[in-house]
Amino acid sequence: MDRLKDKIAIVTGAASGIGRASAELFAAEGARVLAVDRPGSDLTFKGAGITALAADLTEADAPARIIGAVTEAHGGLDILYNNAGVSNSTLAQDMTDEAFDRVLAVNLRAVFRLTREATPLLVRSAAGRILNTASVMALGTDYGLAAYCASKAGVLGLTRTLALELGKHGVTANAILPGAIQTGMTAASFARPDVAAVWAKKSVLRRLGQPEDVARVALFLASDDGGFVTGQAIAADGGLTLRI
Ligand SMILES: NC(=O)c1ccc[n+]([C@@H]2O[C@H](COP(=O)([O-])OP(=O)(O)OC[C@H]3O[C@@H](n4cnc5c(N)ncnc54)[C@H](O)[C@@H]3O)[C@@H](O)[C@H]2O)c1
Repeated sequence: MDRLKDKIAIVTGAASGIGRASAELFAAEGARVLAVDRPGSDLTFKGAGITALAADLTEADAPARIIGAVTEAHGGLDILYNNAGVSNSTLAQDMTDEAFDRVLAVNLRAVFRLTREATPLLVRSAAGRILNTASVMALGTDYGLAAYCASKAGVLGLTRTLALELGKHGVTANAILPGAIQTGMTAASFARPDVAAVWAKKSVLRRLGQPEDVARVALFLASDDGGFVTGQAIAADGGLTLRI
């Protein structure tokens, strides 16, 4: 119950899916959590220990606002979980500049900018942690996912470089690669039983993932248990990527 006792965490994309499950699990494990999501999203949470902040991560002042809020509320930061993301399904030949830029802005550029802002606090922490939600689509692909796959592959490169540069300060950086998880992002697709069945069968465990399946991996990486793991891409995919 106390695997994150006295830790201070930021979780982005916390109103839904993997982010909500992670924010609530981190808080249940003793962390004080700043939960960030877009204005207008549902920022009410189960349990104590979670403070909410409405912010669009792509806004120019978002990193300063978020780090200012965590500093004011808690006086520091130990765990930054960059999890917010958006998808877009359009064939590359039909994709507009705006659609491509939007996906990259949320999934990659915002991760870089918030992490840069958070770095002085993470360096000051006794055990700073950066967690980034990438995707199995950082390694593979599917029709229509040019922008999404480019953004998530970028998250892997960013994560490895952060691990390299911040290791001497005791800060770890790892990426989590979820497979097919039942969240807001996939709700419309998986509402179709035929689509849900195809993706459940791709997992060798023969089921779709739940947000908690990913949140528990995030907890491992954020806790002392994950203290010697850095620069890694850890799949939480039920074995979806085993077969090629
Ligand atoms: N669901 C899956 O199958 C799956 C698979 C692989 C990777 N992922 C990744 O997991 C992460 C979490 O997604 P999810 O599946 O829980 O989906 P979700 O849609 O349930 O949650 C994503 C959250 O991010 C928030 N968000 C989006 N843009 C934002 C912005 N500009 N500013 C602030 N918040 C913003 C949304 O409002 C939402 O609450 C994403 O990075 C996604 O790419 C999901």
